[in-house]
Amino acid sequence: MKITVLTGSPRANSNSGYLAGEFVRGAESAGHSVFRFDAGRANIAPCRACNACRMDGPCVQRDDFWLVRDHLLESEAICLCTPMYYFGFSAQLKTLIDRFYSINGKLATPRKAVLIATYADNSPREEAPMLLHFDVLLQYLNWQDAGRLMCPGLWPAGAVQGTKWPEKAFALGKNI
Ligand SMILES: Cc1cc2nc3c(=O)[nH]c(=O)nc-3n(C[C@H](O)[C@H](O)[C@H](O)COP(=O)(O)O)c2cc1C
Repeated sequence: MKITVLTGSPRANSNSGYLAGEFVRGAESAGHSVFRFDAGRANIAPCRACNACRMDGPCVQRDDFWLVRDHLLESEAICLCTPMYYFGFSAQLKTLIDRFYSINGKLATPRKAVLIATYADNSPREEAPMLLHFDVLLQYLNWQDAGRLMCPGLWPAGAVQGTKWPEKAFALGKNI
């Protein structure tokens, strides 16, 4: 399979970015080809809702969305890796997701999807908004849930290293 991994953290030595790397290693070890796009460090503007694309045409904004656009469309699986920011995906990742609008017609076809998220607290209740968002997004796009990894208790950059989560991210990639 071709897989696109989208990451949403802007910081160096990011926890979710590290797990994305482990997911990639796992997927590649199983023979998949992976394209990783770090939305947290890319130049991606918010959707302007101009509707020039009519949800299925070229976006008028010329920015880094074009670096990932075709990879998304060619992928049989998409992996979203993000820090939890105020109980949701990071704005950096959400901004990219909003730009799906211009390829919505072609993107909403059967694909697998994975969610990997890191957060500082330790509360299943706080995970609920992201999990629900992921659920509804997948239902809307006609994508199939291929696994979620919600990783609590991770505050400083790099905290995920040496925990059980990297191995789990690797396994998710390997078994997708
Ligand atoms: C703007 C911002 C918002 C955050 N919101 C939450 C939150 O709602 N709940 C939580 O547990 N941690 C929150 N955190 C902490 C991060 O989710 C946590 O540090 C995570 O491991 C960061 O992942 P990263 O290293 O990949 O960026 C927030 C951090 C920032 C900078």
